[in-house]
Amino acid sequence: MDFEQLIKSRHSTRRFLDTPLTEQQQQLFHQCLSYVPSGNNKRPTEIIEVTDPQIICELKACKNAGTLALSTAPMVYVIIGDKDKSDVWVENASILSSYLMLAAEYSKLSSCWIQIHQRKDQDNNDSEERVREVLSIPKNYGILCLIAVGVPDDILSSQCDQEFKLKIHHNKMK
Ligand SMILES: Cc1cc2nc3c(=O)[nH]c(=O)nc-3n(C[C@H](O)[C@H](O)[C@H](O)COP(=O)(O)O)c2cc1C
Repeated sequence: MDFEQLIKSRHSTRRFLDTPLTEQQQQLFHQCLSYVPSGNNKRPTEIIEVTDPQIICELKACKNAGTLALSTAPMVYVIIGDKDKSDVWVENASILSSYLMLAAEYSKLSSCWIQIHQRKDQDNNDSEERVREVLSIPKNYGILCLIAVGVPDDILSSQCDQEFKLKIHHNKMK
């Protein structure tokens, strides 16, 4: 798959087949993620791989909406950033998340980003604090998102509006 094809074929999947990721797929992700750039090369981003269905179910309860992908995902990557290492942990974690989604697409898998940072559960509790509790994540780590990954059980092409025109400014905005 060439780069353009890879970018154009990626889309968010919210329903997965009950097929675990292979060791080979997981190894490829680990390799790709070690090449992710970070501010000042601080490398503050870490991942937690969750495959236990009970824990995935607990993660689903940490957010009030947009968690459908967690109902069937065989693998959930929890993307966390060490705030003691970097004040731009969100940016660093976002880049790693993007690499992960593209690596999934390259591996004939699909993915869905589930936002956690700045989100709430159904009782208005902070989603980050809920996830922290479920996974015993120390206080100095921010929790950006969950990336659900698996074999897609849908035939959706990208929901991105093909007619969408990116606003591009030249030299100055006006
Ligand atoms: C920062 C960010 C937050 C997102 N949060 C959620 C989410 O909580 N739940 C969800 O199902 N999808 C989430 N998405 C996926 C978007 O809804 C999706 O990327 C967008 O609708 C475009 O569709 P596509 O990914 O199929 O191209 C998020 C994506 C991004 C980049």
